[in-house]
Amino acid sequence: MSKSVAEILADLDAQMPGFSAEVVAGLSEAERFAAMYDWSVWRRPKQATPGGGWRVWLILAGRGFGKTRPGAEFVREQVISGRAGRVALVGATAADVRDTMIEGESGLLAVFPPEERPRYEPSKRRVTFHNGATASAFSADEPDRLRGPNHDLAWADELAAWRYVDAWDQLMLGLRLGDHPRVVVTTTPRPTELIRRLARSDDGTVHVTTGSTYENSANLAPDFIAEMRRRYEGTRLGRQELEAQILDDVEGALWDRAVIDETRVTNTPPLRRIVVAIDPAVTSGEKSDETGIVVAGVAQNGEAYVLDDRTMRASPSDWASAAIAAYHRHNADMIVAEANQGGDLVESVLRAVDPRVPIHLVRASRGKRTRAEPVAAIYEQRRAHHVGFFPELEDQLCSWVPDIGSSPDRLDALVWALTDLIVDRARAAPVVIPASLEQVSPWRI
Ligand SMILES: Nc1ncnc2c1ncn2[C@@H]1O[C@H](COP(=O)(O)OP(=O)(O)O)[C@@H](O)[C@H]1O
Ligand SMILES: [Mg+2]
Repeated sequence: MSKSVAEILADLDAQMPGFSAEVVAGLSEAERFAAMYDWSVWRRPKQATPGGGWRVWLILAGRGFGKTRPGAEFVREQVISGRAGRVALVGATAADVRDTMIEGESGLLAVFPPEERPRYEPSKRRVTFHNGATASAFSADEPDRLRGPNHDLAWADELAAWRYVDAWDQLMLGLRLGDHPRVVVTTTPRPTELIRRLARSDDGTVHVTTGSTYENSANLAPDFIAEMRRRYEGTRLGRQELEAQILDDVEGALWDRAVIDETRVTNTPPLRRIVVAIDPAVTSGEKSDETGIVVAGVAQNGEAYVLDDRTMRASPSDWASAAIAAYHRHNADMIVAEANQGGDLVESVLRAVDPRVPIHLVRASRGKRTRAEPVAAIYEQRRAHHVGFFPELEDQLCSWVPDIGSSPDRLDALVWALTDLIVDRARAAPVVIPASLEQVSPWRI
């Protein structure tokens, strides 16, 4: 027997916590069912499609504001009205597109009523709507896939976290079908060149909507809000993550966004040495620090290339596996790990995953500033390059002020990597031991 409307509603309530029971209490079941999927009932004014001749609708708002949801609802509205037939869905990674934009709680499948639910074929990276319109999934990690296909509508989620700006440029080049091709961008901000440019554009092509996390409090789980408060309240980063402010450069920070942007590259020359550096978290568990895992290499001419940021909050065996996977993926020469808090543990968890990986344990015998300054100087000299964009790492680099504030794990791992590759290059000559590092057991193989 098929489910009753009440049962379907109960399922939907569970799926979509945003649909509060109070609002629907006064309606008949049929009305409730219709209302459930009527976005005009639920959306806040800022989430409604703006009028005007804009080409880009930029929703620049705090985490949990309700950005992804209007992104999905905008696509639905355009598809249903027949204005969109070939849609591009682009997220930071393939997993983000699938898990958030398509299958997520505020994603494309969830916003359609069951009888119109689109068909998703993951292997084809395609969503087919009930009226025959289609949407293709793209990852900003693979900008080349966006070269060629044309679209009449696009949805770009978390644009400020995309690794390659080229993905945006290609998307815009291909957005040329139909009378009025448009894109909705749903993202928390970062002070990247692209976000700044879009946000301050005043020629009418960009409609900007901003808002804070708290505007959607009624629809957010209390745990989520508590976690956001714990993590960000009173911090500078919180102004970005919760209030959606585009932060200026920080007075006293050692790194400069403009320099990182200027030296950014897409490809590397041949690298003569590659390391995976780890800054292990002291404890593991939900509330612990992250374990910084950064991969970098050095070219023949002595310039550094930051290849990957695999930082994670995880148990020792999980971060060890991730670091060793990165070691193999990048064909690295060595793992460099900070051993301050229990060198034996760090070494043994790595060995348990792969006993043959060369490990170099390093200990910080001087302050962070002393270690970080020579690495920041390499950037200033334009001798360090990021291969693509590493949003969280770059946030840490450009907002950490020495001697103040918490421990930035990604920054620490990056400093260890470049110290090994460049600052500490003299290590190859056995007599020179840099004062800042006490070498615990070099070249364990
Ligand atoms: N106007 C609204 N009414 C009801 N629920 C909403 C509304 N806007 C967002 N939500 C819900 O709030 C939660 C967070 O929204 P989401 O779009 O995923 O946030 P963001 O992308 O900004 O982090 C989701 O469960 C979403 O369905
Ligand atoms: Mg979102």
